[in-house]
Amino acid sequence: MIQEGELINLYHNEQRKYLLKVKHAQFHTDKGFIDLTAIIGKNFGEKIVSNLGYNFYILKPTLEQLVMKVKRHTQIIYPKDIGIILTKATIFPGAKIIEAGSGSGAFTSAAAYYIRPNGKIYSYEQRRDLFENAKQNIEKNNLTPWVEISNKKIENNFEQKNADFILIDIGSPWELIRAAYQSLKAGHKLATICPSFEQLSKTVFTLGQEGFTDIETLEVLTRRILVRPNRTRPEQRMPSHTGFLVFATKISQ
Ligand SMILES: C[S@@+](CC[C@H](N)C(=O)[O-])C[C@H]1O[C@@H](n2cnc3c(N)ncnc32)[C@H](O)[C@@H]1O
Repeated sequence: MIQEGELINLYHNEQRKYLLKVKHAQFHTDKGFIDLTAIIGKNFGEKIVSNLGYNFYILKPTLEQLVMKVKRHTQIIYPKDIGIILTKATIFPGAKIIEAGSGSGAFTSAAAYYIRPNGKIYSYEQRRDLFENAKQNIEKNNLTPWVEISNKKIENNFEQKNADFILIDIGSPWELIRAAYQSLKAGHKLATICPSFEQLSKTVFTLGQEGFTDIETLEVLTRRILVRPNRTRPEQRMPSHTGFLVFATKISQ
């Protein structure tokens, strides 16, 4: 049963789907308003009708929605890239994760979602305004208990040690590789995302010099398909370049 404070995907159609927190309020759309109080006690999949008689469905939000709906004040890591990070990284329920920087908290939300119920992500953001925004996004996604976010510039050391996974998403990832090495468990993964080839090669060569092996670099491309009678084909537009992902494993020295 849906409880007050829970997140829902209020769905009418592809153009009208809303990520909302259930509370004692009305939610207004161009198809009329929905009394959110009436959703408390219902189950996912049920229908609710707006005051103008339009059907909306109460659906379980996906992690993609949580990530895409963060208030963006920076470039974020997109779901297509997050998906592969989650499968290639050493992230699991209970994992201890370190992240630099938090940005808008998109990746922080995804990692927090997966490490529940007893993991923790320690996330660092150097800029006060971005730190505040990321913190609010994490709170909106109901993920605060699994995140410890700090307004701090990481220079050459992370406070936490023995992390299961470290993500570096800053403009010059190579600067934090030594710090990451000191804080990561041996045999575990580090990942970075680099928007340009120059950042990518500098990062990969530094990883090779700083005690990492099994270094893999890739780019993820996704293509949606329009399925229609006798006219099924890929959509004309594809998401453009986001970043090159690098995965590396720490070896003992
Ligand atoms: C591209 S954004 C990160 C986006 C984030 N991964 C997301 O999905 O929302 C990079 C962030 O790193 C922060 N940053 C850069 N260098 C840093 C450092 N040394 N310590 C902490 N934060 C840093 C920047 O201020 C910026 O907000």
